[in-house]
Amino acid sequence: MGSATTLAPEATIAELVRSNATTDVAEVLTWVTEVAELTRPEAVVWCDGSQEEWAQLTSEMVEAGTLLPLNKDLRPGSFLARSHPGDVARVEDRTFICSENEADAGPTNNWRAPAEMKAELQPFFAGSMRGRTMYVVPFSMGPVGGAISQLGVQLTDSPYAVLNMRIMTRMGQDALDGITAGSEWVRTVHSVGAPLEPGQQDVEWPCSDTKYITHFPDTLEVWSFGSGYGGNALLSKKCFALRIASVMGRNEGWLAEHMLLLKLTDTATGKDYHLSAAFPSACGKTNLAMLQPTIPGWKVETIGDDIAWLRPGKDGRMYAINPEAGFFGVAPGTGASTNPVAMETLWGNTIFTNVALTDQGDVWWEGMTDEVPDHLIDWQGNDWTPESGRPAAHPNSRFTVPIQQTPTLADDWYEQDGVPLDVILFGGRRATNVPLVAQSLSWEHGVFVGATMGSEKTAAQEGSVGELRRDPFAMLPFCGYNMADYWGHWLEMGEKLGEKAPKIFQVNWFRKGADGRFLWPGFGDNSRVIDWVIRRIAGEVEGRETAVGTVPAEGELNLDGLDLPAADLDELFAIDPASWLAEAELTEEFFAQFGDRVPARLHQELETLRGRLSA
Ligand code: PEP
Ligand code: NA
Ligand code: MN
Repeated sequence: MGSATTLAPEATIAELVRSNATTDVAEVLTWVTEVAELTRPEAVVWCDGSQEEWAQLTSEMVEAGTLLPLNKDLRPGSFLARSHPGDVARVEDRTFICSENEADAGPTNNWRAPAEMKAELQPFFAGSMRGRTMYVVPFSMGPVGGAISQLGVQLTDSPYAVLNMRIMTRMGQDALDGITAGSEWVRTVHSVGAPLEPGQQDVEWPCSDTKYITHFPDTLEVWSFGSGYGGNALLSKKCFALRIASVMGRNEGWLAEHMLLLKLTDTATGKDYHLSAAFPSACGKTNLAMLQPTIPGWKVETIGDDIAWLRPGKDGRMYAINPEAGFFGVAPGTGASTNPVAMETLWGNTIFTNVALTDQGDVWWEGMTDEVPDHLIDWQGNDWTPESGRPAAHPNSRFTVPIQQTPTLADDWYEQDGVPLDVILFGGRRATNVPLVAQSLSWEHGVFVGATMGSEKTAAQEGSVGELRRDPFAMLPFCGYNMADYWGHWLEMGEKLGEKAPKIFQVNWFRKGADGRFLWPGFGDNSRVIDWVIRRIAGEVEGRETAVGTVPAEGELNLDGLDLPAADLDELFAIDPASWLAEAELTEEFFAQFGDRVPARLHQELETLRGRLSA
C-alpha cells in the first residue's frame, strides 16, 4: 500500500495502480489509472474477496470508529454502522440517467447529456479520494460465467461499501479473472466525496452534502458521489443490476427486474415451479421471498428478494437468476412473527446499519420483538427509552447478510444458467379495486397490468379510487430508459416466448374493507393465493373470468383453517365497474405523459378493458 500523504505526481499514481494489480487486462488497468489520476487516492487496494481481507478491513474500521463490533456470543461476526443522519436513503432527486438523447431517459427519469454530466462531475471527483484508499472491487452478478450473469468493477473510497459489496455480490478474484480483453463489463465509480487533508482526522461516516447518482447507459458506467448509503453506494444493486442492466437487457434481448424469486415444490408429486414477483419497495418482497406456508402441500424456498434477471434459454423458455449474493433488507418490521426466516438468517456475519444497540451489545429495531427494551442506544448513538418519543432504529435501517445463511435457500440460487420461470406476479398496495388475485387474460394484458400498477397514497372512499402513485413494474425509480419503450420491450419478449412465456397474475394483499380494515391476513397466508396460482397453471382449477382477469371460482381458494368471513371474501374479489372505469381515466392520463412512445397495444388493452367493464 502506498503511504504518500501529499498529491503524488501522475507517474506515481500509475505505478500505485499497477504495482499490486491483480489483472493484466489493459482496459481495466487503463480505467483504474484514469480514475485514480482524477481522484488522487493515497493508496490503491485490489480486493480479492478473501476472508483475510474481510478481517483486515473490519478491524481497521472498528479502529476508525465506523464499525462497532456486536457481542460475539449473541451476534457473532457482526457489526453496527451508524450513518451520518443526512445519509440514510436513496436520493431519487439526485439520480440521473445520462443517455445521449433525453427522450431515451423518458419523462420519469432525471436526464442530463453525458458530456454535460461528466463535465459537471469533474470538479467533484477531482481529488475526491485524497488521503483515502481506493479499493478496486471486481464482482460478478450471478455465478461467474453463467448464461445470464454479468461482470462489473466498483472503484470506491469507502471500506463500508467494500464490505457490503462482498456480501451482496460474488466479489473477488474469480470475477476479475472473468474480465478479458474486449469482454463486456460495467465500470462503476464511487466516492464519498470527503477528501482528507494531510493530518486531518477522519469522521466515522464521511459523506458530502452534494450527492450525484449518475448512470451512463451508452457506455455502461455509473458514477456516484457524496453518499455512503446502500442504494447510492453499493453500485451493483440498483445502479447496475436495475438501471444499467435494464438497458443492456433491452439491447440484448433480456429483462432486469425489481423482483423476488421463489421455488415452489408440490410435496405430493415433487414437481417444482419457479415464481417471480414485482412489488414496489416496502410492499413485502423480502417477506414473500421467505414465505412460510400456512397450508400443507407446498415447500417454499428462497432464491432472491429484490432483483431478478430474466433471459430466454435455448429451449425457448424464460430463465431467471437472482444476480445478488446477499440481502440488503429493511430491519424495522422484521421479527419472529412477521419473518422468522429472516430472523434466523441474521444469526451472525451481518452488517447492521442505523439500528439500535442493546445494553448486551446486540441489535434491536421496532418490530423485532413484542417486548420493547427499557434502554437502548438509538441509531444516532444517543440514550433511548420507550418514553423518548422517537424511533430507536431509523425507519430505513438495514441488515446486509449473506444469502447462503438463509435456512430456506433453494439450491437453485447456485444454478449456473438460472431456473425456468413459470409465473410472474405483479402487486402494489391497493386499498380498493384490485382483487386478491387475478390471472391476466394474455401476456399483453399482463404487460398492461404491470404498466399500470401502483399504490394508493390516500385511503380511498368506497366506490372511488385513492390518489394513485403509479409504479410500473415496480421499476419507476429503477428503469434506465424510457418507461414506454420498456413496456414495448416486455411486449416483444412475450412475442418471442409465445406459448412458453410465464403466466402473469396480479395480486393485492392490501385491500381494505369499507371500515378501513385489511381484508386479507397476508404473510404466510399468501401461500393460499400462490397455491391457487400454481394449480391454475397446472390446469387443476378453472377459475372464473371477470373484466379484470381470471379469479378463483367458488371453493377453489384453499381457506382451510382461516377465519375469513364470507362477506370479506366477497369484498376481496368485488369488481365495481364504475370505480374501475374511473381508474381507466387515470390510466389514460398516466399514459399521456409518455406521448406517442406508448405501444399501441397498451392503448388497445385499455380500450378492451373498458369494453369488458361496460359489457
Ligand atoms: C436502498 O434503499 O438502498 C435499497 C436497496 O432500496 P430498496 O429497499 O428499494 O430495495
Ligand atoms: Na429505500
Ligand atoms: Mn428494492
